[in-house]
Amino acid sequence: MPSVRRSGDPFDPKVLFKNAASNIICQLVFARRSDYSDDTSPKVVQKLVEALYLQRTVWGLLYELFPGIMKHMPGPHNTIFSNYLDVEDFIRKEVERHKEDFDPNNPRDYIDAYITEMQSGSSDTEGFTESNLVLNSLDLFLAGTETTATALLWSLVLLIKHPEVQKKVQSEIDTVIGQSRPPSMVDKANMPYTEAVIHEIMRIADIVPINVPRVAGRDTTLGGYFIPKGTPLWTNLSSVMFDKTEWETPEEFNPGHFLDSEGKFRRRDAFLPFSAGKRVCLGEQLARMELFLFFVGLLQKFSFSTEEGVELSLEGEVGAERTPLPFKVFIHTR
Ligand code: HEM
Repeated sequence: MPSVRRSGDPFDPKVLFKNAASNIICQLVFARRSDYSDDTSPKVVQKLVEALYLQRTVWGLLYELFPGIMKHMPGPHNTIFSNYLDVEDFIRKEVERHKEDFDPNNPRDYIDAYITEMQSGSSDTEGFTESNLVLNSLDLFLAGTETTATALLWSLVLLIKHPEVQKKVQSEIDTVIGQSRPPSMVDKANMPYTEAVIHEIMRIADIVPINVPRVAGRDTTLGGYFIPKGTPLWTNLSSVMFDKTEWETPEEFNPGHFLDSEGKFRRRDAFLPFSAGKRVCLGEQLARMELFLFFVGLLQKFSFSTEEGVELSLEGEVGAERTPLPFKVFIHTR
């Protein structure tokens, strides 16, 4: 890329993206963000990220298989539990802090809204307890940090692998938004190519390949198969997002999957990275906003490449999520 200026060494963007994604959940749950050098919330995030990582290691898997034995054994798997307890403790302190200056007429965040519901005395507030508040908040961090950060990492991988797509998105940004103001959600409707690229990244990235495990709540029949109540279910999202009968070039990165013959954005029923139905991702709308604003904001100001001669892989590491293999990125100011 001769026309852009290289600034700085290549680096692994993982931590930066995780901090950015978790900061958004911090804002939602605690009504405050933290500076990346602040040693409170990021530490909590680090503990979460470490616990999630350990769950995927051989130690975590051994614990899953033999909990009765492993709980007596020393090893890194014990850190999973101590980290979760630390995070819960942090959130519990936040709840106490919120109660001190709580104003039901002026809810600041998720914790305030939850406390309001708890205190409303309404008959359908059963289950709105303080311990559920702590665990639900933890859930928002667990579900909303790694997923979003992973989507952004895959975005860089795919943009680096397809510089022509990167250029075309930048050209749409320059036409619709320009360089003098940040992107806003209103711009989305005028940026069909960018929307198509983000969707195609999410399809190819296939971040949650076998979805979140669920249990059949009652006897049911699906596609001719009887599924008794209590059966554990993993719905295979990959099978839909790479379905040969749904996509023109299922294995290929092709933003055209989401564009019609006039270049307008086209929705596809088989696009299910957030799953579907009653248990669909709770954060889908938030995640879509985050992805659009991060993606456009980054490409408005920067171009991305990797080290000379390095071919980034689409293989990914598959645990609960499918994450890119570690890679380094060069950031060039535009
Ligand atoms: C790229 C980003 C994301 C992807 C790909 C993603 C994907 C998913 C998927 C596949 C599920 C399982 C749905 C099912 O069981 O059928 C899920 C559940 C969930 N997600 Fe997301 N998610 C993302 C971002 C977020 C964010 C930002 C939040 C935070 C607010 C969030 C909160 C949740 C929660 C709380 C659940 C559990 C819902 C339930 O049990 O009913 N997700 N997500």
